[in-house]
Amino acid sequence: MADGITHDSEILAREVVARCQTLSRLSEDRESICRTFLSPPMRDVHREISGWAAACGATSTLDAAGNIRLLYPALDSDAPRFLIGSHLDTVPNAGAYDGVLGVVLGIALLSGLRGRRLPFAIEVIGFSEEEGIRFRRPFIGSRALAGTLDDKLLGEQDSAGISIRQAIQNYGLHADEIADAAIGEDVFGFLEFHIEQGPVLDKVGQPLGIVESIVGQSRLEFTFVGQSNHAGTTPMESRYDALAAAAEWIVAVEQKAVRTSGLVATVGAILAKPCATNVIAGETRVSLDLRHRDDETRKSAVEYFIQRAEDIITRRGLKLIWCVGLDQPAVLMSLSLLHEVEQAFRKADLTPFRMASGAGHDAMILAEKVPSAMIFLRTPGGISHDPAETVELGDVAKAIECGLHLLERFTSSSEFMGKRKNA
Ligand code: GLV
Ligand code: MN
Ligand code: MN
Repeated sequence: MADGITHDSEILAREVVARCQTLSRLSEDRESICRTFLSPPMRDVHREISGWAAACGATSTLDAAGNIRLLYPALDSDAPRFLIGSHLDTVPNAGAYDGVLGVVLGIALLSGLRGRRLPFAIEVIGFSEEEGIRFRRPFIGSRALAGTLDDKLLGEQDSAGISIRQAIQNYGLHADEIADAAIGEDVFGFLEFHIEQGPVLDKVGQPLGIVESIVGQSRLEFTFVGQSNHAGTTPMESRYDALAAAAEWIVAVEQKAVRTSGLVATVGAILAKPCATNVIAGETRVSLDLRHRDDETRKSAVEYFIQRAEDIITRRGLKLIWCVGLDQPAVLMSLSLLHEVEQAFRKADLTPFRMASGAGHDAMILAEKVPSAMIFLRTPGGISHDPAETVELGDVAKAIECGLHLLERFTSSSEFMGKRKNA
């Protein structure tokens, strides 16, 4: 038994991949993977996960935000607690690994302990929502743990007019118990495994990376309001075409991002009304997703895009409505936990490779409360948010080894357990 690890990481890795595939079949759509906040297939996901957790000796509960929480007890009942997790919701037409992998890997670590109790409890968490698809507000699940899922956010509505609060009630949970989901002083750290979702590890030939920082992110919605009219009889100079105005702005967004080092800006959703071939669009709603590692650069890009939209509608005689859905600052991962993860990498014969994350993650919300770290797994081809998303079996096995070595480090030295936020 090397370093207390009794697992066969490859067998566990096969199980992890098979379980991700099982969960991928639990979808709102028949032909593709889609699972938004507390949608019906989430119940099936919770049932599967509870069964896997029970087989490792962990108990399952759902908190009021719909997060599944799997508690693997410690040797003593008043021992500190380490969190491992990621999210169970997906984007539309998703791959099988974004989020889900981090939850299933957490359960694999419990399996790898083979019933052995540690001087700390482990809580594996499957967050109910991270992507921001149904309510256009991401991180609903992790905000509940951080204690920042407030009344205003609970009042946000989906396209059918159902609020987050109502969706929670409809699932059979009690939104007035959200405060109980918040983590306490007993938690000494959070670890999120996640696919990288980009090309870096694949290019450098590294199976795993250690995340140092997560870029800041803004999400906005713009509605260009013009006048719908007949496509055949309305002269070009007499039009108030909301779709043409939005199109002009979308190209300006892309050009600015191309000119600004490190800035990524995406208009990924567009809704034109009335959306008919022979009608000039009277209204067009577009999303904007904007990210940069430097918060000032991101904020000034947001100002620029608002100003460009104002210029365009003024010239074209339209109206503009815009709102901010997310203004999430860039976040640094915990230096002390990073150090522990680096040591675990070395134990697993891996070079600790540090990198930044361009995607948002639950760890950036948990980092507000507890030392948080992320381990990225190489994403072949850098493809994610797409059914082609995949992982290498050997990389999953290495992730399991690193995770078990990390737990072993906490077990053999209680020093880290005494550390809390900003350590
Ligand atoms: C989450 O996937 C994100 O949009 O970064
Ligand atoms: Mn995602
Ligand atoms: Mn994700």
